Amino acid sequence: MGNNILVTGGAGFIGSNFLRDRLFNASDDIFVNVDAITYAGNLENLKEISEKENYIFEKANIEDELKIEDICKKYKINGIINFAAESHVDRSISNSKPFINTNVLGTLNLLEISRKLEIENYLQVSTDEVYGSLGETGAFTENSQIQPNSPYSASKASADHLVHSFGHTYGMNVKITRCSNNYGPYQFPEKLIPLMINNALENKDLPVYGDGKNVRDWLYVSDHCDAIWEVFNNGSSGEVYNIGGNCEKQNIEIVELLLEMLDKPKSLIKYVKDRPGHDERYAIDNKKITSELNWEPKINFTDGIKMTLDWYLQNKSWSDNVRSGAYLDFYKKWYGGLEK
Ligand code: NAD
Ligand code: TYD
Repeated sequence: MGNNILVTGGAGFIGSNFLRDRLFNASDDIFVNVDAITYAGNLENLKEISEKENYIFEKANIEDELKIEDICKKYKINGIINFAAESHVDRSISNSKPFINTNVLGTLNLLEISRKLEIENYLQVSTDEVYGSLGETGAFTENSQIQPNSPYSASKASADHLVHSFGHTYGMNVKITRCSNNYGPYQFPEKLIPLMINNALENKDLPVYGDGKNVRDWLYVSDHCDAIWEVFNNGSSGEVYNIGGNCEKQNIEIVELLLEMLDKPKSLIKYVKDRPGHDERYAIDNKKITSELNWEPKINFTDGIKMTLDWYLQNKSWSDNVRSGAYLDFYKKWYGGLEK
């Protein structure tokens, strides 16, 4: 018999890719997607699976403990995968409160509900950003010091500490995954790769922060989703698993590659004021998950970036639809403030 799994934030970038991947694979599991549909959540992302009989959507906010508890009881939930979060560093710099409310208090609610209803399996989707920033060498291991530098990463680190404490104190089966930067279809076009693709297509400036030499470690989204599924099913209780594909790139390398692929001029690049507190470099040591759980990335960067670009070219109307109202207000204010 399958499990009844609550997936939070399933209408966002990674959650929707995760649900699509799981529901296209034959599975006895039932997936209940709980999402508040913030600016970053979009049911359009799930149209291919919305009719599947083992998929259910409930619009709800993870800050609403009673409603989430009712949903868990109604569907006899026995596992939770928590993707729901405010996820954009720049927004956290501009206004940190929603990050505490969703990422910290929302997570606490899910943990309390799991404890009360004796939900058997809880996975917290976290980020390598909780470890802070690296210098030119080295990579984050699961034992690296937690040293978050942005309000976003501080909120994710706080949530991780709560998850660990519930496992330790109440003996609950909890796991934490910490992944590097993802890219792929359905990523909200405020993040580096889709923002640059859309701006280039519209012949707008490509705003590169600082000197463009900050390094991120990139992983194609379906590889992240497979790793989460592996940890959820086979990971050890109380453990943290780093997820990454050994694919470090400077931001400027990515921006220039996208311009070349789109046959657009480098003159579109505009160096703007740096992000305050900008982390210099992230890199993941993935030995634990590759050796203990036999997971490894399947999509290399050359193929992944091509698939991503093709998707954004074929789905320009998706980007146009999601970039509306409140998002545009944020965009104008934020990038206006970065003018040199
Ligand atoms: P996203 O911003 O694209 O999606 C977040 C989703 O959560 C949206 O559907 C939104 O509507 C929903 N949501 C937000 N607040 C909610 C609330 N209070 N209640 C219910 N739903 C709510 O984010 P993403 O990039 O898909 O990231 C998913 C998770 O993965 C996050 O926890 C993030 O910290 C983590 N992560 C992301 C990356 C990355 O590169 N994007 C890397 C590592 C880890
Ligand atoms: P982002 O996609 O916001 O992810 P994160 O901050 O979580 O790593 O940014 C990735 C990198 O790209 C980061 O070093 C900041 C940089 N960046 C720009 O240079 N310009 C931009 O407009 C954005 C959104 C990001």
